[in-house]
Amino acid sequence: MRTICVFNHKGGVGKTTTAINLAAGLSRHEKKVLLVDLDPQGNLDVSLKTQSKYSVYDALTGKVPVQQCIVPIAKNFDMIASTENLTKIEYYLSHQSNGRDVFKNILSSIKGYDYMIIDCPPSLGLLNQSVLSFAKEAFVPVATDFLGVDALKKMPSVVAEINKHFNHDLKITKVIPTLYDQRNNICKEMLSLIQQDFPKQASHPIRNNTKLKEAPKYGKSIFSHAKSSPGAKDYGKLVEDVLAMQG
Ligand SMILES: Nc1ncnc2c1ncn2[C@@H]1O[C@H](COP(=O)(O)OP(=O)(O)OP(=O)(O)O)[C@@H](O)[C@H]1O
Ligand SMILES: [Mg+2]
Repeated sequence: MRTICVFNHKGGVGKTTTAINLAAGLSRHEKKVLLVDLDPQGNLDVSLKTQSKYSVYDALTGKVPVQQCIVPIAKNFDMIASTENLTKIEYYLSHQSNGRDVFKNILSSIKGYDYMIIDCPPSLGLLNQSVLSFAKEAFVPVATDFLGVDALKKMPSVVAEINKHFNHDLKITKVIPTLYDQRNNICKEMLSLIQQDFPKQASHPIRNNTKLKEAPKYGKSIFSHAKSSPGAKDYGKLVEDVLAMQG
């Protein structure tokens, strides 16, 4: 199983949009996918209209076994939802003797999927640290603007720090330029900087596309909401790229 966290400590860069559409796209290629929401905003639950009974918080705090938190979304596509009570998890973890291992201990009991995709909140807190010390790959969506690229520059040192501290081997395997507008010079300039700094990891850009903003309103991925849209084409290419990578 490939364990991929969709991570960037900067907010609003397309992490959740990427996590949903990547998971949905891979499941349409007959891969079995588990999507894990770790953002207390609970955006995935709302975007996919799951109405789960239990959330990841219940599993992390030992209320229920993690298997009871898994809900089916579509063929080959399951999810573990998050709710706003996850805001209390940092406090909970900091008071556990093995706080930083809780996530790993619980999530590593899950088997039977080809991909586990974890949508991280925008932070460098304890929860994200424990996710980064569990996942094998980080996919980093980055907005094609100046501040987005500035935040990206810090990413290799964040990952190096985690690997050193946790004796882990997390790798940034994809950098995904998002919110791209080819009519905009700053976007073009930032895209070439991303490609220059991450020549192996940089994917083709995900264009700015209103259909991507609309899809959550209907509880759908971009592939069911607007399959001919630029958003579906761009995420479709990303899915093919990911399938072609060595896991
Ligand atoms: N390529 C795109 N084109 C148009 N809108 C987009 C695109 N990608 C994301 N958005 C929109 O931008 C907003 C932020 O996206 P998203 O929620 O995916 O970011 P995030 O990194 O998960 O944010 P947070 O850090 O708050 O979790 C959302 O309204 C989303 O619909
Ligand atoms: Mg998000």
